[in-house]
Amino acid sequence: MSHDDNGHLIDIIAGARPNFMKIAPIIRAIQARQKAGSALRWRLVHTGQHYDARMSADFFDQLDIPAPDVNLEVGSGTQAEQTAAIMVRYEQLLLQQRGALCLVVGDVTSTMACAIVAQKLGIAVAHVEAGIRSDDWTMPEEINRMVTDAITNWYFTTSEVANDNLRRAGVTEDRIFFVGNTMIDTLLVNLPRLKEPPFWVGAGLQSRRYFVMTMHRPANVDTADGFAAVLAAIGRGVRGMPVVFPVHPRTAKTLAALGGLPKNLLLVEPQPYLEFNYLVKHALAVITDSGGITEETTVMGVPCITMRNTTERPETVTLGTNELIGTDPAQLKPALDRLFDGRWKTGSVPPLWDGKTGERIVERLEVLLGTPAAGA
Ligand code: UD1
Repeated sequence: MSHDDNGHLIDIIAGARPNFMKIAPIIRAIQARQKAGSALRWRLVHTGQHYDARMSADFFDQLDIPAPDVNLEVGSGTQAEQTAAIMVRYEQLLLQQRGALCLVVGDVTSTMACAIVAQKLGIAVAHVEAGIRSDDWTMPEEINRMVTDAITNWYFTTSEVANDNLRRAGVTEDRIFFVGNTMIDTLLVNLPRLKEPPFWVGAGLQSRRYFVMTMHRPANVDTADGFAAVLAAIGRGVRGMPVVFPVHPRTAKTLAALGGLPKNLLLVEPQPYLEFNYLVKHALAVITDSGGITEETTVMGVPCITMRNTTERPETVTLGTNELIGTDPAQLKPALDRLFDGRWKTGSVPPLWDGKTGERIVERLEVLLGTPAAGA
């Protein structure tokens, strides 16, 4: 097929769990435009970076994401192995059939790898969630963000801070589109569908009488002693309440080597989207080292204690319910004491996190690609 035939074809890239909630509203918005007669077309490319059903297929099912058109099936590996495998296989795909645009979301390895491949073949790149920065180069995600944004044509952003970061890097205004947060589109659409997980009753969980914890960053979970200290401090600090802990595969490897875990820790498998956010919505608070979860807790008004020194999402702290306490477990007790004393901030929802971001992105893409208007 010639390039012209694909002039309105967008490759949508998804690789790892946090990508799936970000692409769902974009696909939904394209489908709505197509129904109205738009010539926009899309091809969903799953790189296979996350491949377990619990890290991938469950999200496609629950979020009504159509099956990928292509799965590059790269699987696990080191950062370089994964990056290389994605690049080789995505390049092969583009050499067979190239589109007009490669749309990448977030900051995972797949985001960066596909952006590089597309741009080197002269295919424009759009980055959703562009411009956010932690300035922490020990996180692979930060390097992924920086590399992706260095070679992106069009930047779709979640916040004014992101816009400023891009301006400072020399990106011109006409390439920055402040559209809001697609992850929050997904949350708002799914709030009425959230589901009690099957272990809720058996574990005796009650609204606002338990914590949710997630932890998977190498800095927190890759050494057994350090991670054991974090778990012990959480177990002691929560005043006997249960702590529901969906365990990421990376974390499971470290946990397997630990004994004597706190009794109030409830270890469960990675949760599907609807069950996980049900747990978050009803929790007293969340303890995490994730970035995306701090956005969801901000919108749901649930206190969030983040065990990191930096965040690429500062609005979750300045406007939202999130607080950074660093990675030292000694900081957990004072934070938890403030929570139990009712001294946690209430927070507000950042601008444009309103559930309409997918539509704003797709409307803009039609203009950028010169797609004939619906009915034209
Ligand atoms: C990736 C993302 C991170 C995101 C996280 C959410 C990068 C650099 N990081 O980190 O931003 O917050 O996903 O989950 O892209 N594994 C499985 N099954 C799977 C997927 C992974 O067992 O379906 C194992 C892998 O073999 C590996 C470990 O989990 O040992 C880590 O997976 P990997 O994709 O390398 O990075 P994450 O830590 O998940």
